[in-house]
Amino acid sequence: MATLSSDLRIDIDRLSDRLAVLAEIGAIEGTEGCARLALTDEDKAGRDLVVSWMRDLDLTITVDSIGNVVGVMDGEHDGQPVMTGSHIDTVRTGGRYDGNLGVLAGLEVIETLRAAGITPPRGLAVAFFTDEEGARFPPDMLGSLVYVGGMSVEEAHAIEGIDGATVGGELDRIGYLGPAPLPAPAPHAFVELHVEQGPVLEAEELTIGAVTGVQGISWTEVSVTGQSNHAGTTPMALRKDPGVVAFRTAAFVRELADELGDPQVATVGRMHLHPNLVNVVPATADFTIDLRHTDNDVLLDAERRTHEFLLEAAAAEGCTVATKSLARFDPVEFDDSVVACVEQAALTQGHTVRRMPSGAGHDAQMLARVCPTGMIFVPSVNGLSHNPAEYTSPTDLEAGANVLLQVMLELAAT
Ligand code: HGY
Ligand code: MN
Ligand code: MN
Repeated sequence: MATLSSDLRIDIDRLSDRLAVLAEIGAIEGTEGCARLALTDEDKAGRDLVVSWMRDLDLTITVDSIGNVVGVMDGEHDGQPVMTGSHIDTVRTGGRYDGNLGVLAGLEVIETLRAAGITPPRGLAVAFFTDEEGARFPPDMLGSLVYVGGMSVEEAHAIEGIDGATVGGELDRIGYLGPAPLPAPAPHAFVELHVEQGPVLEAEELTIGAVTGVQGISWTEVSVTGQSNHAGTTPMALRKDPGVVAFRTAAFVRELADELGDPQVATVGRMHLHPNLVNVVPATADFTIDLRHTDNDVLLDAERRTHEFLLEAAAAEGCTVATKSLARFDPVEFDDSVVACVEQAALTQGHTVRRMPSGAGHDAQMLARVCPTGMIFVPSVNGLSHNPAEYTSPTDLEAGANVLLQVMLELAAT
């Protein structure tokens, strides 16, 4: 029987095949990307496929009441498992690696051990968490947030999506309203493999990122109400145009991010005017603001300045404003022992590596609340993500999955 030696390696062809088969579900025609918004039929089909692969690997599978799915490979003893995983829901213009890599690499690690006849001292678990993207049902990382007790199941089930559906209703409709109780028992440790989704590793010609944590995230939904009127007859001085408030605020947050400099980012990703017609001064303007920074004090100040600007712009235009927080997560630092384990595994395997924070949110930032947690990044070509052209080379995918294999074995060695 093979030992838990460091010369064990994953099978990149098998991993690449699984990534390709999963990407066919919700495939975006003419691209390499896929669209599987959380709890849609496409998400269900993706879930069913990954669960079938978990069954093929003879894992013990649980589904909880927010639809998180966990497959466990028993270890020699019955202590809490070392968990890996991520998400298989995507944004509407998703790539095939965001989230999917972390889940399928976890299955690949287990299949590699099964094929070598190896049973780790401690069990291994692979999870996919519900609604990591938060694009249909905010906040992002919803499933992992509930998994660790950061939100009640009842509150999560009542969340209404951008299309009026509810989380609870959709879980029930797709058959993933599971029985496993929440919050779940904390894993022994958690490590997530993910594409970087940014330009750093590629620019520095590095293969592995030993992720030190995740920056703070602030999502706000803004509803501005003015007065619809005739575009031709209404003098500018008499207008109450909510669209102008929205556009000026969108410009403000961009200028604010430029003023503050990296890593401050600001995005107005969603905007809707009503009635959205060429010759009507809008009645309402609804839009979202996504602000992020690694320093919570800077993020709080950016939020405060944005809110002040919004109120002033609305008052100047004779409009009223309502705001709703969709997500607010402080910056998270990962456990240094896990970060060091990732860094050392990369070096042992001969890869270039650097420590770095994550600009994107991840399920790992929620698991970090309950157990020692870390992440492994691999490069994104052109730094692209949330874009069907998202791409990571098989060589880099293989490197990341082999580092994941080694880190999981080391964390499961006791
Ligand atoms: O929004 C994020 O950072 C992640 O993609 N959910
Ligand atoms: Mn992701
Ligand atoms: Mn994403």
